[in-house]
Amino acid sequence: MQQFRTLFVAITLALTTLSAAFAASPAPAEGQNGMVVTAQHLASQVGIDVLKRGGNAVDAAVAVGYALAVVYPTAGNLGGGGFMTIRLKDGKTTFLDFRERAPLASTKTMYLDKDGNPIDGASTDGYLAIGTPGSVAGFETAREKYGTMERGELLAPAIELATEGFVLEPGDIASFANGNAMLAKDPAAAKIFLKDGKPLELGAKLVQTDLAKSLKAISEEGSSAFYKGEIADLIVKASEANGGILAKEDFEQYKVRELAPVQCSYRGYDIVSSPPPSSGGLVICEILNVLEGYPISYLGYGSAETIRLMVEAMRHAYVDRNTALGDPDFVENPVTRLTSKAYAEEIRSRIDPYRAGVSKALTINGGTESKETTHYSIIDKDGNAVAVTYTLNGSFGIGKVAEGTGILLNNEMDDFTIKPGVPNLYGLVQGEANAIEPRKSPLSSMSPTIVSKDGKPFMVIGSPGGSRIITITLEAIMNVIDHGMSLQEAIDAPRIHHQWLPDKVYMEPYALSPDTLRLLAGMGYDVGIDPDWTIWGEAAGILIGGKNLKEIEAGDGARYYGAIDSRASSGAAIGY
Ligand code: GLY
Repeated sequence: MQQFRTLFVAITLALTTLSAAFAASPAPAEGQNGMVVTAQHLASQVGIDVLKRGGNAVDAAVAVGYALAVVYPTAGNLGGGGFMTIRLKDGKTTFLDFRERAPLASTKTMYLDKDGNPIDGASTDGYLAIGTPGSVAGFETAREKYGTMERGELLAPAIELATEGFVLEPGDIASFANGNAMLAKDPAAAKIFLKDGKPLELGAKLVQTDLAKSLKAISEEGSSAFYKGEIADLIVKASEANGGILAKEDFEQYKVRELAPVQCSYRGYDIVSSPPPSSGGLVICEILNVLEGYPISYLGYGSAETIRLMVEAMRHAYVDRNTALGDPDFVENPVTRLTSKAYAEEIRSRIDPYRAGVSKALTINGGTESKETTHYSIIDKDGNAVAVTYTLNGSFGIGKVAEGTGILLNNEMDDFTIKPGVPNLYGLVQGEANAIEPRKSPLSSMSPTIVSKDGKPFMVIGSPGGSRIITITLEAIMNVIDHGMSLQEAIDAPRIHHQWLPDKVYMEPYALSPDTLRLLAGMGYDVGIDPDWTIWGEAAGILIGGKNLKEIEAGDGARYYGAIDSRASSGAAIGY
């Protein structure tokens, strides 16, 4: 009998491994010379056209960034900020931080009432919620330092899309569905994004004349048009008229930071990702370092044991994220310690093998998840790889357009600690390291990541999703490396998430079987379907040399594979 049981377990394990490699899923897109994966198909086409015209991956990333500001206004932007991780063909890696900065007039308590309580909506809804935007400076810095094409060439497609308009497809209509009510409240936004106060219909053409004018000014004058010229004047004017604190000096002082990316290794793969002011790279590395000590591949995707270990690693990493990290110009981030293998060993020694760990006593409900942020991944014929995640924070930011600019404005200030212990838009409970100070950037979760193996690029990956960005990106990497999934399967597979507080394991429907749930509950885990599961982030990735690890190792794959999340409504992976 015992022999039979052993054989049964062995066959089951073998089938599990096989099914991971051959699960049903659409095939990822293929390409031999380049791949562009974005959340909006027209923007992906813009990127591919740049590559075909001889531009490199950074040129394509810049053109896509401007194009998404037109065709994906829920998150693509000129009025927000983000990060770009670059791996050049010679293996050099770098990171551009063009995140928003707190205005000079901001204060630590600016969103609290006289009794020290957060004022409802103050950090999310109005002009007071805006951080000084960085996207235009970011794209221009990237182009000047690492691109090869002229500014005008890279802005031309975005200008055309804004001037001529583009026809709204079902995916575009879906992305507007959450924003229409908010956009209707702002006359300048309603004029552009609604028709006679009603949502735009399928097949309607969205023309953005003011945005085209702003893009043309940037094309002609460079980023000074945005930071020193009429665009800054118009945004400051709108801010002053609506209770904001943005001043012309905020724009004039804005500077992009070029930083060393966070680096770590996982089972022989080299990970390069976002450093502070993002927590993303650090938290991904901390979790992977902990999990490297366990046979995740053998334990299997979605098993109670794998989930337990992932959750415990996430719990420890998110405590560090939420309490210790902040803008590197203002706080000392313990990067070396948090990414060390020794620290991972220390965490493993604290994980109880039988019972769920317990997050700090404060239990908070709340935090919503939205489509907001957007991620895109690009690789060119020479192997230069770029991962960009940028955002307005909430979907459509504050939902307001500075009159005459066509530019939607961010509500990134909500990513600061509004009050220690009080959750932000994503339910994140944060500490003093992320307190508001003039010129400081709020802590982010955005995780544009590039993985390489033996000195060659292996995977480009990232996602939107607020605090879930980190675990979405992490799970896509694990699904490829540990579970042998194809890129598309890895991105589409149902996910779980834990972020220390609330002390709850969130899952997407079907992520865990009823008996797995019972096993986890028996160990003390509070697992449930995320109430906002319909809008978990949409990852966008590229795998190099095969559609899964098996093909890469056998050396019989095409050169590039691209996958946009099946959760995405309007995206496309386009190769050539
Ligand atoms: N606003 C989302 C993030 O930066 O993490």
